[in-house]
Amino acid sequence: MSEEVRQPPDATDAPAEPTVAPVRVEGLIKSFGRKRVLHGVSLAFPRGMTTVVLGPSGCGKSVMLKHLVGLLRPDRGEVFFEEERIDRLSERRLGPIRRQFGFLFQQGALFDSMTVGENVAFPLRELHGGPPYDEEAQVRRVLRLVGLEQTIEQFPNELSGGQQKRVALARAIVLRPKVVLYDEPTTGLDPIRSDVINELILKLQRELRVTSIVVTHDLTSAFKVADHMVMMYEGSVVLEGTPEEFRRTDHAVVRRFLRGEASEEELRAIREVTAENRAATRRIGGAR
Ligand SMILES: Nc1ncnc2c1ncn2[C@@H]1O[C@H](COP(=O)(O)OP(=O)(O)OP(=O)(O)O)[C@@H](O)[C@H]1O
Ligand SMILES: [Mg+2]
Repeated sequence: MSEEVRQPPDATDAPAEPTVAPVRVEGLIKSFGRKRVLHGVSLAFPRGMTTVVLGPSGCGKSVMLKHLVGLLRPDRGEVFFEEERIDRLSERRLGPIRRQFGFLFQQGALFDSMTVGENVAFPLRELHGGPPYDEEAQVRRVLRLVGLEQTIEQFPNELSGGQQKRVALARAIVLRPKVVLYDEPTTGLDPIRSDVINELILKLQRELRVTSIVVTHDLTSAFKVADHMVMMYEGSVVLEGTPEEFRRTDHAVVRRFLRGEASEEELRAIREVTAENRAATRRIGGAR
């Protein structure tokens, strides 16, 4: 991990906006059936910065992200957008708030039967009830931003996985959102294609001055794009700070995660399964 430490954007050329976090959650608790997934998560995502949320599979990262745009409702706790409480709003009243967000989901599928251009135009048509007068200009603007203007007439299955992610990203930003949410944007991509996505996250933050929230377990990507980092573990936030603070932390869970090591408990579970498999293999061998 030798990447340079990134500094937050220069305060002097930041837009004249309130400094409070545009998105904030307080004490989020969420269960599915009897399983509690979020155990009281409180976080504020600083304006104009990129916050990376790290954590092992199943710790509740995607569930937390879905609460920010009202796709899931908390059992307890609060969600704020620009200091307005939004977790109890009706779907109708959530509409204009959701349009301030661009999201790139983990399964960020494009519509196969539509061209790239039509996919990207989709949110514009939904908003305007039909194509707006400057649709093509808007579509070309965002496709140019992700470097794929030339694919406008193509269909998603003619593109690589990395290109499809970039088209999904273009679609996510076509309504000029204030906040962009990325759920595992580099999963399934090779290192070079992942880096193209990282560069795009940085470019959008610089050029569109968005607040970005990136959920990932790709550490190279995390340290490349983060101004601010959060580590979640088993439904709670265990550490929050700068990338430098993360590199230097002596928090055992975070260190293990950054080194890619399994915990004692996980290792024990793996050993038990291996031992069971060995016993089963012996039984099969004996029966022959
Ligand atoms: N709609 C749902 N109904 C029931 N259980 C759910 C639902 N969504 C998530 N869960 C459960 O909540 C837990 C956390 O899921 P979540 O998707 O937030 O994990 P994650 O941290 O994003 O993991 P990954 O890194 O694998 O994407 C998991 O055990 C998952 O099975
Ligand atoms: Mg997830």
